[in-house]
Amino acid sequence: MTQQGRRQERFSRPRSPHPPRRRNGPSRPPVEDPARQAALDTLREVRARDAYANLLLPQLLRERRITGRDAALATELTYGACRSIGLLDQILDACLDRPLAKVEPTLLDVLRLGTYQLLRTRIPAHAAVASTVDLVRGEQGSRQSGFVNAVLRKVSELDEDAWLDRLAPDPDKDPIGNVALRSAHPRWVARAFADTLGTTGDELKTALDADNERPAVHLVARPGEITAEELAAMTGGEVAPYSPYGVRLEAGAGDPAGLDPVRERLASVQDEGSQLCAIALTRPGVEGGDERWLDLCAGPGGKSALLAAVLGISGGRLDAVEKAPHRARLVERSTEGLPVTVHVGDGRQPAALGMGTGTFDRILVDAPCTGLGSLRRRPEARWRRQPSDVGELTKLQRELLLTALDLVRPGGVVGYVVCSPHLSETIGVVADVVRRTGVTPLDARESFPEMPDLGAGPYVQLWPHRHGTDAMFCALLRR
Ligand SMILES: C[S@@+](CC[C@H](N)C(=O)[O-])C[C@H]1O[C@@H](n2cnc3c(N)ncnc32)[C@H](O)[C@@H]1O
Repeated sequence: MTQQGRRQERFSRPRSPHPPRRRNGPSRPPVEDPARQAALDTLREVRARDAYANLLLPQLLRERRITGRDAALATELTYGACRSIGLLDQILDACLDRPLAKVEPTLLDVLRLGTYQLLRTRIPAHAAVASTVDLVRGEQGSRQSGFVNAVLRKVSELDEDAWLDRLAPDPDKDPIGNVALRSAHPRWVARAFADTLGTTGDELKTALDADNERPAVHLVARPGEITAEELAAMTGGEVAPYSPYGVRLEAGAGDPAGLDPVRERLASVQDEGSQLCAIALTRPGVEGGDERWLDLCAGPGGKSALLAAVLGISGGRLDAVEKAPHRARLVERSTEGLPVTVHVGDGRQPAALGMGTGTFDRILVDAPCTGLGSLRRRPEARWRRQPSDVGELTKLQRELLLTALDLVRPGGVVGYVVCSPHLSETIGVVADVVRRTGVTPLDARESFPEMPDLGAGPYVQLWPHRHGTDAMFCALLRR
């Protein structure tokens, strides 16, 4: 079991039937508020144990049998509060008589939950305050609940716009700081988006706001088994606009894992941007043989499965390398029945895996990255990632790409993909490798036919606000 799994298992043990001991104040039965309790428990695990809200909350809802409106409320409160932690904290800081860092962390979780309800939901202010205070009173007693009550009453004196007007930096002097606070992003992330978009104007705000929307679920139809049109008809979805294998499900269509074509392995869940980047590798022509492909960073196997299904039609074979053993097992599972050999190992040491120079016709390097391109899927990720992560990742990305260029045969193609628009991880890595190796960048836009707004090339940067996909980057290099 993974560390994350162990954490979540420990966390989700059935709770004691006895009410918790109060530290202060009179005894009082705990208030039954399963939605807010689930949201609070998730916020705590996200803060204290680096849990992923999008994995833990669904598990809690299942285990506690929370459904319907309660589940919807818990989801909105949890994901919304996780996304806006930095904004909520600045507002709380302005309402406290002590530094935020001095607030007991378990109370800070409660204050974040209450502040989110006050500013970003239609829950009436008195209900938002009272229900949050009740959560604390049930757990920690009346002294702490009095503190929470007092702070939330101060928060409720202004609405979100008025708080932003008070706290956001002057947009003329500090446009990045202003838009970062208004869209609830760390400044360095807003800066990275601005650098790539080349603007601090309206499009930057639109791009950052898109991270606060819930993304549509996309399915990929397995090539050779089912068409996108057939999959759309079977699932009630619609054919996706750009991927030849993509289907977009209606919002609120339920758990896609329960759909028949997914259970029968005719389709799987995969963002349309990921589909497009995998397919882009297959598009440039290569002279001579074209039957040995490699996925150098394969876990959990979404792109491997798509590439292997395409390759299987013409009788080829895919090698898939993954460093983490548990993720390699996921690759095995997602590529079951397809012509794939999974290798557990470091993609930078191919000799140890029996792979020699110039062996492969096409190689995908879907490198580990900051994930700034999929912030809409991972509510807390923007606050967890640090600018200091970038340097280490770009070193690894560069090494993996250089290895791929060694493993591909002359005339073969390497696709470099990251789920990030950060220039250091995208153009920075590729330009450095091109300079060192003299390899030729292809115009990747030609491998994304009929997609609008792809910029000046030769690389492709997708965006949620332009394309409805994750913000994936793709470069194609010919050896
Ligand atoms: C962005 S994910 C790949 C996603 C995958 N292509 C998919 O579509 O499902 C990057 C993967 O690279 C793996 N990884 C990290 N360092 C690696 C290395 N040195 N060699 C091979 N894989 C590595 C990570 O464990 C992670 O599973």
